[in-house]
Amino acid sequence: MPATVVVGLQWGDEGKGKTTDLLAESVSLVVRYQGGDNAGHTIVLGDEVFKLHLVPSGVLHPHITPVIGNGVVVNPRTLLAEMAMLRERGVDATRVRVSRNAHVIMPYHVALDGATEARLSNDGLGTTRRGIGPAYADRAARVGIRMGDLLDPVGLRQRLARILPERNAVLAEAYAQPPFELDELVAEAAGWGTALADHIVDTTNLVQDALERGEHVLLEGAQGTMLDLDHGTYPYVTSSNPIAGGACTGAGVGPLQIDQVIGVMKAYATRVGSGPFPTQLDDETGTHLLQKGKEFGTTTGRQRRCGWFDAAPLRHAVAVNSVSSIMVNKLDILSGLPEIRLCTGYTVDGRAARWPLPLPELERAEPVYAAFPGWHEDLGGVRRMEDLPVTAGRYLDALEDLAGVPITLVSVGPERNQTIVRTGRVAARARRPATTGV
Ligand code: GDP
Ligand code: IMO
Ligand code: MG
Repeated sequence: MPATVVVGLQWGDEGKGKTTDLLAESVSLVVRYQGGDNAGHTIVLGDEVFKLHLVPSGVLHPHITPVIGNGVVVNPRTLLAEMAMLRERGVDATRVRVSRNAHVIMPYHVALDGATEARLSNDGLGTTRRGIGPAYADRAARVGIRMGDLLDPVGLRQRLARILPERNAVLAEAYAQPPFELDELVAEAAGWGTALADHIVDTTNLVQDALERGEHVLLEGAQGTMLDLDHGTYPYVTSSNPIAGGACTGAGVGPLQIDQVIGVMKAYATRVGSGPFPTQLDDETGTHLLQKGKEFGTTTGRQRRCGWFDAAPLRHAVAVNSVSSIMVNKLDILSGLPEIRLCTGYTVDGRAARWPLPLPELERAEPVYAAFPGWHEDLGGVRRMEDLPVTAGRYLDALEDLAGVPITLVSVGPERNQTIVRTGRVAARARRPATTGV
């Protein structure tokens, strides 16, 4: 009865799309459990690049049922566009299932997110402006519209008639934005219901029945641990729980039904949007990571901030997610750097600080680095650990020691087959200094 969670351990964009697509080979269901179309998960198949925002990354495998769980906030416009894109490119989208309990991102949520960010300008959170925060806020306030509501235009009108005047008032008075018309909104939303009727189901039973049959279910997280509403760098976070526990609430599985949690991280760090990022590099190394790593947002096209791998929060991320093993992506991007640094901890006001830190302390935290010799070889064609440069292997060993759980998969390119299965080295639980600090 195995359920496996795929969870980002950093600030998102760790390569969860590649990891999920790779692991989906041997499962029957892939379930997205939180977030919305703020996510951008990329899958590369030869010349084809698929950028998915809502449909789970297993969809390219014909044997998979892709499920959008109850914990996701769904913008039906995006979902319909994405399903149409998949159809046009020869991928069967009829299999997609959406929880009837998943909340809908309404046009007023998108307008409110955009208006708030625009008003705050540089003091904003740097959201994706997809309406994620306002939609989750309405869910918590119990005034949300759920996917199942789209199938009942009469009830939908009643719910919208209650909420819309309040949302319109805020848009008009706080942001001088035009109101939404009830009739138009009901008509558009009912149209979504008609278009998606065959896809909107109770997904909890779908998942539970699959587990009961002994099938393998993959639970795909969006964003990452540092963007978690509770365990991330609040308030510079998203409005859901990307951590593995979010898979229980967002997909309807019990904690003991999960037998594996695969943490996904890349060999360096990026962050898009506002918020503290102690290892950020604004020098030529940062430019190397940005350009070689093509670190531009999948959803917004924004340039991602780049920096050295930050292991200060890594143990914490491993603990709060119960990570059982790790996949490290984008090791190939570090090729060509003469020296590679790894942040092993912080000091704040001259004293060692342990994660998690209060925001003001995190904002002035100084990284403590370990330094490693780099390598020049192109790693794109490497398929076995023994063919990696020795220095790259040492860097992975150090990451593994800091994580305290095994790194079992290493990615050296965006394609499925550009993956190394790493066996043989059991994680040394006791920390040992990998190199001298600098
Ligand atoms: P996600 O949001 O976690 O799924 O990650 P994104 O798709 O936003 O960003 C990861 C990017 O890195 C995508 O363009 C992937 O195709 C690409 N990628 C994933 N793994 C590797 C890798 O090992 N090497 C390289 N060069 N690119 C990778
Ligand atoms: P994937 O799944 C990276 C960031 C935004 C912003 C903050 C809040 O592709 O890893 P939101 O729109 O969620 O209210 O924005 O979270 N953010 C992401 N950063 N990857 C993502 O998703 C992200 N989704 C949201 O940039 O800083
Ligand atoms: Mg992404």
